[in-house]
Amino acid sequence: MSQSSPPLSQSAVLERTRAAGQGHLLSTWDTLSPADQRHLAAELAAVDFALVQELAALLSRPSGGGSLPALEPPELFPLERSAQQRQRAAEAIEIGRRRLSEGRIGFLLVAGGQASRLGYEGPKGAFPIGPVSGRLLFDFFARRLLAAQARHGFRASWYVMTSPGNHAETQACFERNAWFGLAKDQVFFFSQAMLPALDLQGRILLSAPGRLFLAPNGHGGVLDGLRRSGALAHLRERGIETLSYFQVDNPLAPPADPLFLGLHHAERSEMSTKVVSKRDAGEKVGVIGRIDGQVGCIEYSDLPAALRDARDDSGRLLFRAGNLAIHALEVGFIERLTHSGLDLPWHVAKKRMKVVGPNGQPAEVEGAKFETFVFDALGKAQRSLTLEVERELEFSPVKNKDGEDSPASCQRDLCRLHAGWAQRTGRALPTGRVGGFPRVEIDPLVAESAEEFARASDLAPRQVGDGHLYTR
Ligand code: UD1
Repeated sequence: MSQSSPPLSQSAVLERTRAAGQGHLLSTWDTLSPADQRHLAAELAAVDFALVQELAALLSRPSGGGSLPALEPPELFPLERSAQQRQRAAEAIEIGRRRLSEGRIGFLLVAGGQASRLGYEGPKGAFPIGPVSGRLLFDFFARRLLAAQARHGFRASWYVMTSPGNHAETQACFERNAWFGLAKDQVFFFSQAMLPALDLQGRILLSAPGRLFLAPNGHGGVLDGLRRSGALAHLRERGIETLSYFQVDNPLAPPADPLFLGLHHAERSEMSTKVVSKRDAGEKVGVIGRIDGQVGCIEYSDLPAALRDARDDSGRLLFRAGNLAIHALEVGFIERLTHSGLDLPWHVAKKRMKVVGPNGQPAEVEGAKFETFVFDALGKAQRSLTLEVERELEFSPVKNKDGEDSPASCQRDLCRLHAGWAQRTGRALPTGRVGGFPRVEIDPLVAESAEEFARASDLAPRQVGDGHLYTR
């Protein structure tokens, strides 16, 4: 959708729609109420028909198939480190701490997705994930920012990307929860753009009479969303040079990791990524690698089986660098990428969609949605760093209703981690169990690592139900 189109009269909007070959959208115009007509005209006025034409052209492009991409494993800063790498890591941690305390790092959360796999009504960030506290996903991130502020002595700026479908609810959730302990001016909300879905002939679809079928433009939309919303300028005013990027679905993501931020800076990387070893070939994470010589990510759904299942000489998956969708991005890099429109490739998702036909009757058609992915920006970075991290400490996403990567598996992983820390310090454990592990939750304000928790030896847990909550 174009954001800065000059205001057009209603008849000019209708004329422009017909001229763009989308006149079918107006076939029931006369039957709409004046309010619905105004609504449809406003939606149509915001459509970038030149972009729609560009997207429609993608539909007739033959789909991939055939030759495999030239994929190689990425160069990693690995978990198992040589003495030299340990030395570099120690130096990077110092750099990262300095960058944080100087206020050079901003925080960027993408929360514009529709949470359709989780089947949760409302923004995913409002999902109560705390296994003892019932804390919301948003609260976890806020507390990690509060903990980072206390540790490094700075004032965090948090940029939260929503989409039009959850923007108001997200803001309301923050308001209801008093910005989760942050000050109101520390949180900057902006909404990503929406794009019309098309049928396979390139015609814009309707979701209801007089309503375009609109879908978020993918998390790549965060980049031009930052520019359009004024956030880029805001970042510059605040002296922020690097954005720490994370997804709403992973409460273990540490937003202020000195090692990652320090390595990113020391390597003069424009965009960095954290990875973990894939759990198995079928795990639904993108794979970071060198694609035709340049660092990039191949999404799980696009990874040909021959590459997905390939093994190295030691029998491990050859392409195992699973993308955590935790990045560090230079503000200057984002400025360059969005200077004249968003410079990222489009991904097309074709699926059956419930729509309203031009006659106003419900119908089901084969349609297409279009998205950009933020990790495609890796290919545009002059320098890029990939850091391997421990899954147990940093990755347990909430994506599905049940099974792996669900609320149940995430709460199990949180309890496994936190009960482990409690056990190591000789604490008594509660009777309650979550997925077989003692129901223990440690507030990030108390500790974000086993070592930090060991220093909080005077803190007694609160008994909540059959679990233990360590909080201040
Ligand atoms: C994503 C990554 C995958 C990575 C995995 C790690 C993609 C295409 N793939 O997979 O490489 O290994 O996470 O967990 O993203 N979002 C928006 N706006 C949108 C779409 C998504 O803000 O238009 C946000 C969601 O709120 C969520 C995140 O992006 O925070 C991930 O989106 P999702 O579609 O769930 O990606 P995955 O398939 O899980």
